[in-house]
Amino acid sequence: SRDLDKAWLGTPISEFNRIPQCAPPLSYLKAAHNHTVTIRTDLLREEDVLVSYPTKFRDAWDDGMVKMPCSEKNLFPVETEVCLLNCDPQDAILRYHTSHAKKWDFTALNLLCTEVSGSEYMTHTQSIFKMNRCYKLCMNHSLTMSQEQIACLLANAFFCTFPRRNSRKFEYSNYPEINFYRLFEGASTRKIEKLKTLLCYFRRVTQTKPEGLVTFTRQTLNQPPNWESSQIQLTRLHITCEGTIESEGYGMLQVDFANRFVGGGVTGHGLVQEEIRFLINPELIVSRLFTEALEHNECLIITGSEQYSKYSGYAESYKWVESYKDETPRDDWQRRCTEIVAIDALRYRHFLEQFLPEKITRELNKAYCGFYRNNANVKHLSAVATGNWGCGAFGGDTRLKALIQMMAAAEAGRDVAYFTFGDAQLMRDVHEMHTFLTERQVTVGHACGHEYRDSVYRNNRMQVIPPHEP
Ligand code: AR6
Repeated sequence: SRDLDKAWLGTPISEFNRIPQCAPPLSYLKAAHNHTVTIRTDLLREEDVLVSYPTKFRDAWDDGMVKMPCSEKNLFPVETEVCLLNCDPQDAILRYHTSHAKKWDFTALNLLCTEVSGSEYMTHTQSIFKMNRCYKLCMNHSLTMSQEQIACLLANAFFCTFPRRNSRKFEYSNYPEINFYRLFEGASTRKIEKLKTLLCYFRRVTQTKPEGLVTFTRQTLNQPPNWESSQIQLTRLHITCEGTIESEGYGMLQVDFANRFVGGGVTGHGLVQEEIRFLINPELIVSRLFTEALEHNECLIITGSEQYSKYSGYAESYKWVESYKDETPRDDWQRRCTEIVAIDALRYRHFLEQFLPEKITRELNKAYCGFYRNNANVKHLSAVATGNWGCGAFGGDTRLKALIQMMAAAEAGRDVAYFTFGDAQLMRDVHEMHTFLTERQVTVGHACGHEYRDSVYRNNRMQVIPPHEP
């Protein structure tokens, strides 16, 4: 057909909402019962400087807080700063962790430090080594921190100083890993390229102090929509086999194909969509410090993270290319206008499992939890920038997942920019399905109906013609 040589189909992407243009003005930033802010917001308004809040360090070692290296209760050796300042990174880590670290393997780190003069990066890292208190992120709670505070926390993660976080067996078994020790082991190119990407970040933030804020919001969906009775029709679709979520989707709500432990294997071996995003925007990694595993009805929204690196390739072929200067504008809270939402799809071991109604509902609710915004006027909502969510490492079916995401986005009142990651056939099929459903004004509720589902089930492939026309 005439669509065969097209790189995109549907609505031109230029018609879609992006922040900051589409966003309404923000209220003044201030702490609230559901929003912790770790800087002095009064000073932010008047003088444009970022001062940590609370101003003085208050020790906390209880269940509501993440245990910090600087606490009096931390039993690790104390003269950390002296120790970290005076030796190479491996030595520093070994001296800090007299017991654990003996078993750790620093091959990748050593390879890199000799080949790329890495020790120079390390001395920079140490100059921002100071700490702050940190909250766990509870249900429907937001945490706003400065990029500088995040850099300090990440430097701690690099040196593996977060207490009780070197084993997942105990207290933090339901949290992602934060300390970086697993990044140093082995000699794979993966690890080397991951470390190069992170060292580029540390070099950048030590050369020039980053000046903005980042907000982390844990959003819970308490009342899922009644999908079967939804009267909503699909919103607009732009679908393309070229480009990526992070570059062509600027200003949109960008989907992170997440693990329930956000960041997935970023501090270990993983190197697919989520891990790559966390490497090029390393501020995302700090969410692992305080974000307990996501429940089925939860997501994590991160607003304001910055991209520090350019990459090429994917998984085995991933390469750090060079430092990247992010020129995304900032909002009134001094956050980069980059909104990322971590939603974790289900992992399917048996292909047909995902077509079970309860699985479809789970994925609809998860996507909707990520896309909907309480009290928002849909005119002010950016489009969703997404793609093959759950269809790589997690084994989902692209056509089914595309339909699920279009339904969830429609229910949340947002258009969809879909990046098929090179798959032109998928682009044409999903576009055809979208055209079929919108031309016939099929509602989301109707699309849930069994006649659609059965046709999907039978053919292992999304079929756009239902047995009886609505
Ligand atoms: N832009 C658009 N599409 C992309 C991009 C990109 N930048 N990168 C990849 N794709 P996957 P999952 C496409 O496997 O199945 C991680 O370890 C590409 O077609 O990352 O949800 C997490 O931590 C790719 O095959 O997502 C989880 O543990 C597809 O998106 C787990 O993987 C899916 O990417 C999640 O796996």
